[in-house]
Amino acid sequence: MTSTTPHHTATAAVTTSRRIIEYRGIAAPVPAPGRAVIRMASVTLCGTDAHIWDDDYATELPIIQGHEAAGTIAALDSSDLDSGTGGWSVGDRVAISPMFYCGQCHACSIGRVNACRHMSVYGCYEDGSLVTEQAVPLEKLYRVPETLDLSLAPMSEPASIAMQAVNRGRAQAGETVLVSGAGPIGLLATVYLKDLGCDVTVSDMNPARLTLATALGADRTFAVTPGDFPTAAQRTVLDQLTRGDGPSLVIDATGAPASVATGVDLVATAGRVVCVGISDAELRLTLRTLAVKEIDLLGSRNSQNLIGEALDLLDRHQDSIGALLTHRFAFTDLDAAFATLVDPTAGVGKIAIDFPERPERPARPASPEGGSRP
Ligand SMILES: NC(=O)c1ccc[n+]([C@@H]2O[C@H](COP(=O)([O-])OP(=O)(O)OC[C@H]3O[C@@H](n4cnc5c(N)ncnc54)[C@H](O)[C@@H]3O)[C@@H](O)[C@H]2O)c1
Ligand SMILES: [Zn+2]
Ligand SMILES: [Zn+2]
Repeated sequence: MTSTTPHHTATAAVTTSRRIIEYRGIAAPVPAPGRAVIRMASVTLCGTDAHIWDDDYATELPIIQGHEAAGTIAALDSSDLDSGTGGWSVGDRVAISPMFYCGQCHACSIGRVNACRHMSVYGCYEDGSLVTEQAVPLEKLYRVPETLDLSLAPMSEPASIAMQAVNRGRAQAGETVLVSGAGPIGLLATVYLKDLGCDVTVSDMNPARLTLATALGADRTFAVTPGDFPTAAQRTVLDQLTRGDGPSLVIDATGAPASVATGVDLVATAGRVVCVGISDAELRLTLRTLAVKEIDLLGSRNSQNLIGEALDLLDRHQDSIGALLTHRFAFTDLDAAFATLVDPTAGVGKIAIDFPERPERPARPASPEGGSRP
């Protein structure tokens, strides 16, 4: 344990080796020009966290996990308080964008920073937000709408990924969309597609997830039987909706090659298929289909700084989105949280980690309204 400030330590949850998390007291971060200290309120977990915890990821352990995070500003550098950079105050509620890009590579040079070849992500490639206090650059902070529950705000990160996939697909109001996979990414894509005015069919083999899809606004759901999808009856439904054309946009949020192949088969001629799901498995397609149907087959990674838009989306739909948050655990109970995350029988939508309430940090000047908000 190291501590340079005898009055003040933070607690970090360090994933030290496969399935082992150690709580460590660390020197509490201090603000610097352009860097605020965030007191964490909530972190949500996703499949990537399960892989890192399982030591089945590109990152070497140890690491502090957590890339979907929200909290309050605990401290700002006095120069930022004086200059009002970004208008931030102590006590402001913020979501953290975990993505860092180089600004120099080809992707960055054409504005597609979400595909930066040198990308880093808090909690995945460098220490993240499963810590009671974290110093974060101001440009990575997004204000949480007043009416949005802070425990839902971390879901702006997966929502931003879902929005990127929908944007890559150039979704238009009124078109018929098939979303394959009703995990958090597919479900949040569904919420955004409905927000845009699309007709949305969601497919999955997990009935509980299809129930969630309906709760989140899907127009209809298709149960998938592997090897028999779509059934004749399901295909008839799609044909009736589209005068036999098929959906003009398919979003794969499974990472299953079979789902992408079916999407390419089902999509309308001149349609778009977006692959947001990730897998190392090989995909087999008939090359003829891509050319003859003139399909746009599009990859989608991370998001082009859509956390702010995602917070607004969550805010508009927080009554339904709350259903996605199926489990909550205290920060002190991470072993149970991760065990639940990888338990296929647990019926997990999203798991939220709640941080303990702590008193405001002492001895830091606050702006007039600072520190008074929840
Ligand atoms: N591109 C990115 O930047 C990015 C970021 C985060 C996650 N991802 C990927 O997106 C995918 C979805 O993430 P998630 O958190 O929602 O995952 P998840 O595992 O919770 O959900 C995937 C869902 O797909 C369903 N499924 C699997 N095979 C299917 C098939 N053939 N047809 C229909 N449904 C099928 C599963 O039952 C599950 O409900 C994952 O592959 C994940 O790795 C990509
Ligand atoms: Zn995630
Ligand atoms: Zn770059």
